[in-house]
Amino acid sequence: MSTLEPVDCFLDQNGARFVEELKEFLRIASVSADPARRSEMRRAAEFVSAQLTQAGLQARVVQTEGHPIVHGEWLQAPGGPTVLVYGHYDVQPPDPLEQWTSPPFEPTVRDGFLYARGASDDKGQCFTHVKSAEAWLKTTGRLPVNMKFVIEGEEEVGSRSLDHFLAGNRDLLKCDVAVISDTSQYAPGIPAITYGLRGVLACEVTLHGPNRDLHSGVFGGSVANPCNGLARLIAKLHDDQHRIQVPGFYDDVVPLTSKERKAIAALPFDEAAYLKDLGATSAWGETGYTSTERRWARPTCDVNGLFGGYSGPGPKTIVPAHATAKITCRLVPNQDPDKLLPAVERFLADNCPPGLRMEFKTFHGCSALVFDSESRYMHAARRAIASAFGAEPVMIREGGSIPVVATFRDVLGVDTLLLGWGQNSDNLHSPNERFTLADFHRGTRASAYLWSELANRT
Ligand code: BES
Ligand code: MN
Ligand code: MN
Repeated sequence: MSTLEPVDCFLDQNGARFVEELKEFLRIASVSADPARRSEMRRAAEFVSAQLTQAGLQARVVQTEGHPIVHGEWLQAPGGPTVLVYGHYDVQPPDPLEQWTSPPFEPTVRDGFLYARGASDDKGQCFTHVKSAEAWLKTTGRLPVNMKFVIEGEEEVGSRSLDHFLAGNRDLLKCDVAVISDTSQYAPGIPAITYGLRGVLACEVTLHGPNRDLHSGVFGGSVANPCNGLARLIAKLHDDQHRIQVPGFYDDVVPLTSKERKAIAALPFDEAAYLKDLGATSAWGETGYTSTERRWARPTCDVNGLFGGYSGPGPKTIVPAHATAKITCRLVPNQDPDKLLPAVERFLADNCPPGLRMEFKTFHGCSALVFDSESRYMHAARRAIASAFGAEPVMIREGGSIPVVATFRDVLGVDTLLLGWGQNSDNLHSPNERFTLADFHRGTRASAYLWSELANRT
């Protein structure tokens, strides 16, 4: 490991600076969902591009119809493998603001955690790869592998511009394997490689009743109420075993093998502590599966938001005109979002209560994936993580979704190494998002080791 020595030293000596630069990145309020943040989106893209250039790569900001994409490359390792690093500089909206201990875009260190929106998802995590590339280039003048970077700004809103960019730039982005750090470790002290993710489909259903909000005393009881009707409709989505009732929903589901169930059961898991942390009173979910199986390998159908009628303070006696539910289903391998979206729509239409008119909207969708956990890339990642974290990584699946992973497989024909440096306790999408500084530094080191492990053909 002698060529790693200068890289290791560089990481030790520059770690504090990396944190300061990450803070600068986190001060940019790059909320992709918020049209008022367009200029911050641009600034975040330019920041990433400048960081890549400063590290010694060639980088540029690519304009799209939506938010810009940052593309970078260093291709001077002839004969070596080519690695494509993906990340996203966009973040979720910070609301509810009043629940943050320190403001979301004023990064603050407390007790070894860096608090800010995007600290873990995904600015802090993708930054580790920029800094590991810098460490190699600044110390040895080269990288052990050819590297390409694609850092986008629409991951949290469906990656539409990225899909066009990938489809139009297959040659530019040609690679042997993709690397993404946008997932989590299994637990503090237990690093992980994620070999599977769930997919997702998202839609919105609105029920329309009377042509305006009506006095519920004068008219109530004589016309259908959209809020009551929507509650009935949503209740039909599951049976008492929490199985989804949409016809055909489970037809293509790949069942868990007994080998995989054993491997999942062998991971340490304290269910009581898990539930306590979440404030849940009991375990809950599809009959016949453990909590971890439910999260990683079983589909779900969740209402994300429900609104209609009057929701201000105090009572108001009306029959509302409309009611809406935002719904997402998490999907598992072999379920096809393009096939299931119409099935969900048909189910809702067939069960729409009489006297109400249904309107249906669809949003993004993506497929679930599982990868071969014994590929040589996986083994390289295992070695890199084991030496940087001082612990063997466990192999896990996760319940979240990263739409680009399926696109990489379909468009570029490559597997993705999902190497999460975060923790489930990082409060992704929640108030007080954070990243453990030790994980930031260990992640950067694992990334630096990964480039040499991937170059090592044995
Ligand atoms: N980084 C997350 C996905 C994630 C988080 C995967 C934790 C595994 C563990 C990503 O930024 C995300 O939030 N994805 C969305 C995708 C959706 C907007 C299409 C998700 O999973 O809800
Ligand atoms: Mn993310
Ligand atoms: Mn996210």
